[in-house]
Amino acid sequence: MEKKRIAVIFGGKSSEHEISRVSASYVISQIPADKYEIITIGITKSGRWFLYCGPTEKISDGSWEKDENNLTAFIAPAPSVHGIIIINKDGSTRKLYLDVVFPVLHGKNGEDGTLQGLLEMSEIPYVGCGVLASAECMDKISTNIMFKHAGIDQAAFTWFYSSQYFADPEKYIAQIENDLGSYPVFVKPANAGSSVGISKAHDRSELHAAIEKAAKEDSRILVEENIVGKEVECAVLGNKDIFVSVPGQIAPAAEFYDYDAKYCSNDSQLYIPAHISDETAEKVKKIAAKAYLALECEGLSRVDFFVTDEGRILLNEINTLPGFTSISMYPKLMAESGLGGSDLIERLISLAFERADKNV
Ligand SMILES: Nc1ncnc2c1ncn2[C@@H]1O[C@H](COP(=O)(O)OP(=O)(O)OP(=O)(O)O)[C@@H](O)[C@H]1O
Ligand SMILES: [Mg+2]
Repeated sequence: MEKKRIAVIFGGKSSEHEISRVSASYVISQIPADKYEIITIGITKSGRWFLYCGPTEKISDGSWEKDENNLTAFIAPAPSVHGIIIINKDGSTRKLYLDVVFPVLHGKNGEDGTLQGLLEMSEIPYVGCGVLASAECMDKISTNIMFKHAGIDQAAFTWFYSSQYFADPEKYIAQIENDLGSYPVFVKPANAGSSVGISKAHDRSELHAAIEKAAKEDSRILVEENIVGKEVECAVLGNKDIFVSVPGQIAPAAEFYDYDAKYCSNDSQLYIPAHISDETAEKVKKIAAKAYLALECEGLSRVDFFVTDEGRILLNEINTLPGFTSISMYPKLMAESGLGGSDLIERLISLAFERADKNV
């Protein structure tokens, strides 16, 4: 059987550039080399695209950028190319056909529908959610509005533009206190990811500082009621016919699961399965499936919840390209369900082809 050519795209302009590189290294290590010819395309933090042909270790540590054989290369929007355009050192160009793309980018420009839009235009099958699901799940305000519409329980919330707030802070502080009842509250930029710009505010002065911080990341601000509970997550796989994993749980080392707790500290723990009753686990799985389908997710997503001691199940968010390192929750939950390592990656790639076949 002839090998199919797969491009793994990594890096990107988002604040999650570094994690994307580690996720991509893991994904590459799990793609069966007897079935696929793997090519890697790196996007630098400043947004430059390169075809990188060196060893995978240099992707995780970032030194791939210095490889002197890197050539500028990018996905062509034109379906006639169905692949990338490479600019050679002498300025001449060539095309390289791709069978499928695995975008391993987290956050802005990668997980938010923008790259997915380019891939739709190019007509190259790609792994993961499409444009709409990616965009909606990336934007915390849109996700909350969609959950509300779908009748899915979540934290009470309110939102506004940062410009509205700075024009009349008292009005919006009153709105927050009125809508959410009491402190602490969580302040989040609508779009950021990996807890960047998120803070827990315990009183009015902290609230003001938290809004100023969030406003540095986005022009729309979300404020949520504080939920005290376990953080429980499910891995979901599939297009319309979906599989939901057993729920897992994260126990953050910090007061909340911030960037350091997620990626820099060894103290955060994962429990698989989550420390919840079987009955609650079943309910969590049902809601995960409902939310996944309500937001039109495809391929994969990790659906994150809070489960309170009283047994309330509140949906927090859907990550359409969850962390994908060897120690990440998504691959671990799938492995626990019997679909580990390269089997999972192969399934994700075949889901990309299945969706593309349906779309023609
Ligand atoms: N309403 C809330 N009540 C209590 N804790 C919260 C609330 N919202 C967020 N948190 C805490 O803050 C962390 C980060 O928030 P959230 O998951 O919304 O954003 P994010 O992790 O940046 O998004 P992404 O997972 O897409 O990178 C959560 O894992 C949780 O620990
Ligand atoms: Mg999160």
